[in-house]
Amino acid sequence: MSDYISGYPESMQESLRKVAESRANRVGKQFTPMTADERHKVLEEYHPDWKMDQKRELKVGPCKGELMPHEVVDILEAHSVIKPEDIDLSNIDYDVDVLIIGAGGAGLSAAILANDNGVDPDNILIVQKLRLGDANSKMSQGGIQAADHPKDSPTLHYLDIIGGGHYYNKPELVEAMVKDGPDIIKWHEELGVLYDKLEDGTMQLAPGGGTSRRRMHSCKDYTGVEITRVLMDETINRQINYVEFTSAVEFIMDDKGQVAGAVLYDMDTHEYKIARAKSTILATGGFGRLHIQGYETTNHYGSTGDGIVMAYRAGANLMHLDSTQFHPTGSAYPEQIVGQLCTEKLRARGSQPLNIEGELFVYPLETRDVEASALIRECYGREKGITTPSGMKGVWLDTPLIDIIKGEGTIEREFAAMYRNYSKFGIDIRKEPMLVFPTLHYQNGGVEINVKCETNVPGLYVVGEVCGGVHGKNRLMGNSQLDLYVFGRRAGVVVAERAKTAEIGKLNLDHLDRYEKWLKEGDVETDRKSPILLPEYRGKKTLDHQLKLL
Ligand code: FUM
Repeated sequence: MSDYISGYPESMQESLRKVAESRANRVGKQFTPMTADERHKVLEEYHPDWKMDQKRELKVGPCKGELMPHEVVDILEAHSVIKPEDIDLSNIDYDVDVLIIGAGGAGLSAAILANDNGVDPDNILIVQKLRLGDANSKMSQGGIQAADHPKDSPTLHYLDIIGGGHYYNKPELVEAMVKDGPDIIKWHEELGVLYDKLEDGTMQLAPGGGTSRRRMHSCKDYTGVEITRVLMDETINRQINYVEFTSAVEFIMDDKGQVAGAVLYDMDTHEYKIARAKSTILATGGFGRLHIQGYETTNHYGSTGDGIVMAYRAGANLMHLDSTQFHPTGSAYPEQIVGQLCTEKLRARGSQPLNIEGELFVYPLETRDVEASALIRECYGREKGITTPSGMKGVWLDTPLIDIIKGEGTIEREFAAMYRNYSKFGIDIRKEPMLVFPTLHYQNGGVEINVKCETNVPGLYVVGEVCGGVHGKNRLMGNSQLDLYVFGRRAGVVVAERAKTAEIGKLNLDHLDRYEKWLKEGDVETDRKSPILLPEYRGKKTLDHQLKLL
């Protein structure tokens, strides 16, 4: 330690000294989890979801009156980017059985299962805004939950999810997910995913916030990269069709009231293209790049909420969009990586959140919403955060404890990506803690589905983060990774069956005229257009969220 030069500025050194001095006394120390009343209080006082001035009632369509963040209402109360009269629906560019919009874990799983169940690769089209596999699922770090250990069960997994979701979850979706969970892990392994194993060959499992058992399966701290690698290989090997740098901007309907494909926008040539399909699977992910309440985000660049916009215009029901997930530990320093994910697995392996005095102030594995609120309270309620040179506040995540508790080499082995990332900035997380603050991580709500991924609009299936109901109003770690594959696979099976009998009628974009009527009826006067496809950062100030918290 003696010749190690700290990666943090002078202004943080006194606090770092207190952290180092208190470390030995904190080894093995448990902070008591909060009571139900304490949890409720910290959520109500500090969780961003409880800031009612940051939401408003939607004024258009079937979900009129529902409270949602302003940023979400803004994209729903907006005009389409296309005018129906400018689009030639008779000029079909792609004509397929199955159109899949989005090539993350959910979309790729749907494609593979549709193919397994008889749809020819040429009759599937995956469209992807960026490159194949570019999605939040690929960025997942800590792991995927599945109750496959003899001392665990889908029932316990179910209870954890429902409790974590504050009982708002659709029970039948949770049941489907936990029951399919063990098969998903087997499927991944058969395809070639390399999960972390113990010396006896069994799975290495970790806990997560709000889990009653260790059921987190991981591939070091780049679980999503490993699973996506395998699913992409599988998709490419099967010669399933895909187009990149192409975004869907609106669904196309037919005269039977079914979704019958989508209008696509080629982001290279700026041309619109027409995809006609017997079934359309929406797998566009969430809205992290809307930076709800100005928060930084862990999300990939394309997460701009396009799916909820298109689905709502087509008449699909939305649910739980009042609820957003803020991951407790986003990076708060160095400046270049602010907002990026510092996996919950760091806490599962023994690191502790500490304030400026080096004091442990919260049980490290409270559910995400509670943990995030406690961090915000420490910085903005108790004023015990650490301030960075740019004025951002954060608390320490004492990572050196991991090697002390779990043995030297654990960080390099289990957190290979994180260790390397911080090393680039001169911070050795084996020797110094990370500075963290909550960051926007996940869209809890979305388009309502049933266990077959069907929506209330025939022909439209929704999977992954863009759907709502699975996680209620707070998702637990590793359950998004699971739901992607569970519902992606289910949708693939259902659309393969539908391809045998479905018939498409005359195409139209009449729902866009209906939406204009809804906007007028809601007295919405705006020049906003959506989907926005990519976020706009020009002219934006940094640290907006911290300014709002002051
Ligand atoms: O903390 C994490 O590794 C994130 C996992 C998740 O959102 O499921």
